[in-house]
Amino acid sequence: MAATIDDVPVLDLDPYDQRHAANPFPIWEQIREAAPVVYLSRYDTYATGRYEQVCQVLEDWENFTSTGGVGLTDITKPGAMRPKSELVEVDPPVHTSVRGVMTKIISPKVIKGWKDDFEATAAAMVDELVRRDTIDGMDDVAIPFVTTVFPRALGIPSDGDHRTNLMIQGDYRFSSLGPANEFYLAARGRFDAIAAWYLAAQQRQNLIPGGFGEQIFLAEDDGRLEPGVAQSVMMSFFGGGLHTTISALGSTLMHLSRDPELWTRLRGDRLRVKAAFEEALRLESPATTWYRKTSRAVELGGVMLREDVKVHLLTASANRDPRKWERPDSYDIDRPMLGHLALGRGVHQCIGQMIARTEAECLFNAMLDRIERLEPAGEPAYRPLNNLRILDVLPLAIRAG
Ligand code: HEM
Repeated sequence: MAATIDDVPVLDLDPYDQRHAANPFPIWEQIREAAPVVYLSRYDTYATGRYEQVCQVLEDWENFTSTGGVGLTDITKPGAMRPKSELVEVDPPVHTSVRGVMTKIISPKVIKGWKDDFEATAAAMVDELVRRDTIDGMDDVAIPFVTTVFPRALGIPSDGDHRTNLMIQGDYRFSSLGPANEFYLAARGRFDAIAAWYLAAQQRQNLIPGGFGEQIFLAEDDGRLEPGVAQSVMMSFFGGGLHTTISALGSTLMHLSRDPELWTRLRGDRLRVKAAFEEALRLESPATTWYRKTSRAVELGGVMLREDVKVHLLTASANRDPRKWERPDSYDIDRPMLGHLALGRGVHQCIGQMIARTEAECLFNAMLDRIERLEPAGEPAYRPLNNLRILDVLPLAIRAG
């Protein structure tokens, strides 16, 4: 690492190299420990995996804009792999106004109104599961639960092939935030086959009445959203609410299954269920990586960054930065719950976090009510994606009780 550009150390490392996919933490650590900010020559981006610098970037939208896209590719330049989101990829004041409308549409009161459905869906699902000795934490739990309750709240169908298609679109959406590598190309191939379904599913005329998707279009009708914004925002919710939550629920189950005493403790102390979920969010960080772009020359971590360059934020690594966290690699539900960056920070901090937390609470309480013992029953494996870690397989042994 002798070379520097404008005092920023240059690394010839590839965090997207598929040899790191099974366990990306060592390469992220290498980047984090090299310097507060480095330049990744393969991708022509700056990168930081340190908690302090990731926070600084996320909190400073004026110097670190989202308008270049929250993925690797600069969506303002020719050859962008996807259209911009009118919520995620805009800065204040445009962002403030769209976000304000959406915050009212999915207010805490509205989300509380969905809770009965979340609880009943979880209870019915787990009642069926406890007839068996082994289950898969993804195919039998996290995926069917989230792809039932969230599409229902939004107003899109989720039965039959829809569920498979929802997973394909999520794989593609996150993979398209990285480079055009094999993960992207494979996800793209699967997505192309369902692209017509994807576009149709979120058209206004195909929405199931009563979902919050309908409210997004009504906001455009009465002028609260600019013309054309509703469809784009709809896409952001479609994509943002599924893989992220499925990943977080799967990681929580994986960690809980590894500690049967903790499962027993949670059965008697439901107040800690929230902490079990937050700690899995910190440790495993579903969306591992986000990008911003420098709006002008700006200082970060003691060095000057050039204008108009992407900054790769390794949030998953910042969530394990030893400068911030004691025993960062341990799953410890007794550590303070706040401060992790898995749900972002600053103006774009996750707008769906209360939905995800409500889903987690309902699902885990249903499982704790009905399952006495939860243990691993085989090796977990991850789906091959860019920018998001989500388990594909999570074999679990259960005992009803
Ligand atoms: C545990 C599950 C979740 C995780 C880990 C997660 C993670 C995140 C993160 C890190 C951001 C910030 C992105 C950025 O800074 O550019 C974000 C924003 C967002 N999330 Fe989530 N999310 C989760 C659940 C949800 C759910 C359930 C929804 C659906 C309502 C959702 C919808 C969104 C949207 C629309 C944004 C953009 C907000 C904005 O730009 O103002 N997310 N999410």
